[in-house]
Amino acid sequence: MIDLRVPGDKSVSHRAVLLAPLATGVSRIEGLGDGADVATSLAVMRALGARIETARSARAGLDATIEGHVLAEPAGTLDCGNSGTTARLLIGILAGAGIGATLDGDASLRARPMRRVVYPLQAMGLRAHYLGGAGRLPLRLEPRATGTLRTLRHRARVASAQVKSAILLAGVTGRVRVSVLEPARSRDHTERMLRAMGVPLGTAETESGHEASLDPDAWDGRLTPLDLVIPGDPSSAAFLVGAALLAGRDVRIEGVSENPTRTAFLDVLAEMGARVERSAGQESGGEPAGDWLVRADAALEPFDLGGRRIPSLIDELPLLSVLSARAAGRSVFRDAGELRVKESDRIGLMAENLSALGVEVEELPEGLAIHGTDRRLEGRVRTGGDHRMAMAFGTLGLDPRARVEVDDPACAGVSFPGFWDLLERIRHG
Ligand code: S3P
Repeated sequence: MIDLRVPGDKSVSHRAVLLAPLATGVSRIEGLGDGADVATSLAVMRALGARIETARSARAGLDATIEGHVLAEPAGTLDCGNSGTTARLLIGILAGAGIGATLDGDASLRARPMRRVVYPLQAMGLRAHYLGGAGRLPLRLEPRATGTLRTLRHRARVASAQVKSAILLAGVTGRVRVSVLEPARSRDHTERMLRAMGVPLGTAETESGHEASLDPDAWDGRLTPLDLVIPGDPSSAAFLVGAALLAGRDVRIEGVSENPTRTAFLDVLAEMGARVERSAGQESGGEPAGDWLVRADAALEPFDLGGRRIPSLIDELPLLSVLSARAAGRSVFRDAGELRVKESDRIGLMAENLSALGVEVEELPEGLAIHGTDRRLEGRVRTGGDHRMAMAFGTLGLDPRARVEVDDPACAGVSFPGFWDLLERIRHG
C-alpha cells in the first residue's frame, strides 16, 4: 500500500485567499494549495492591500494568516497569470466594492472568455472596458465613487462556478441582492465558505436548474474570519487514482475533499469497474473530507457521459479520457463544450495527443469518442501549457505498455507542484 497526500484544494484555496481579507478579524487557514495559481491569488490580494503571512504547512502546502482589511486601488496592473478563478472571482469582488483596477493574464488567460462575468456585472452598473480583444483580458474596471450596484437575477447559459461566484461576491462586497440560476449545479465552494463566514445564502433546486441567492437585508454586512483546514484537491487526487489503476498498485490518499459537486468522477470510475473505497474524515468550513483507497485489481469498462453530470466532473475529463484509452470498448462524453475554453482547448488537444500515441479518437463538437485499445502506446504529447493536459498524459505514461513524452512537464506546477515525484512513487511501488 502506497500512502500519499495531495495539495489543498485549488478552488477552496482561491476562495479562502480572496475572501479572508474581506472579513472582520484574522483568518487562519491550514493546508493552502501551493501551486502557481493560488500564489497568483495571494499576490493580487497583497497588491490590493491585504495583509497575508504564509509559512510551509505541517500538512501539504502552506498555512496562512490573513488580516481583514479594506481593499485599496492597486498601484499597477493585477497579473492573474494562468488563473481563470482568480480573474473571474476578483472581477466580482472589485465590481461590488467599487474599486478601480486593471486585470491581465498570460497568453492562455488572455484567450479565455471574460464577458460571461463582466456582462452581468455591467447590468448591475459596473463600468468596464476591454483594453485588448473584445470580451478578453486585459480589462479595466472603473472605480465607483458614489452609489450602489443594482440588484440582479441572472440566468446563466452555462453552469459555471466562476460566473456564479463572481455575481455572488459582487453582491457581498456591494451589499446588494443577487441570484444566479444555472442549468446544472456547479461546484458550491463559494456558497459553503460564505455561509461559514455568516453570510445568508439561499439555494434551491428548480425545474430549470439550480439557484443560489444572497439577500443582504438579512445580514449585518460583516464576514466572520475563517478558521479552516483545506481538504486535499480531488482533481489532483484523480490523477493519482488513475495512475494507481494503470500501474496496478494499491494506493491510499489521505484527507481528500468529499464535496459532492467535485467527486462525480468517482461514480464514473465505479461504472468503469474500478474500486475506490472511501472513509469519512473531518469536515472544516462546511467542506467534508475523507480518505480514498484505490484497489487496482479490475479491467476498465468504457463510459458514456453527458448532460447534467458534466459540470461536476469537468476538470476530470482529461483524466477520464486517458483512462478510456485502456478501457475495453468505445467511451464517449458529450455536452462538454466548456472544455474548449479551459486553460487549453481540451477537446481539440486531447484528440490530437491521443491520436499521436496511436489511440483512435473521434472529435465531436462538444465531446470526444475514444476507442480503447491494448496496443502499445508511444509518442510525444503537446500540453499547450495546460497543467491538466500534462498530468493526464503523465498518468497514462504509468501504463506498463505506454511510453509518453510530455513536452512541458513543469506546467503541472500550476495546481500540483509535487505531481511528478508522486507519480514515480506509484510507478516504483
Ligand atoms: C473553478 C470552476 C470551474 C473549473 C475550474 C475551477 C472554480 O470553471 O473548471 O478549474 O474554482 O470555480 P468554470 O466555472 O468556468 O466552469
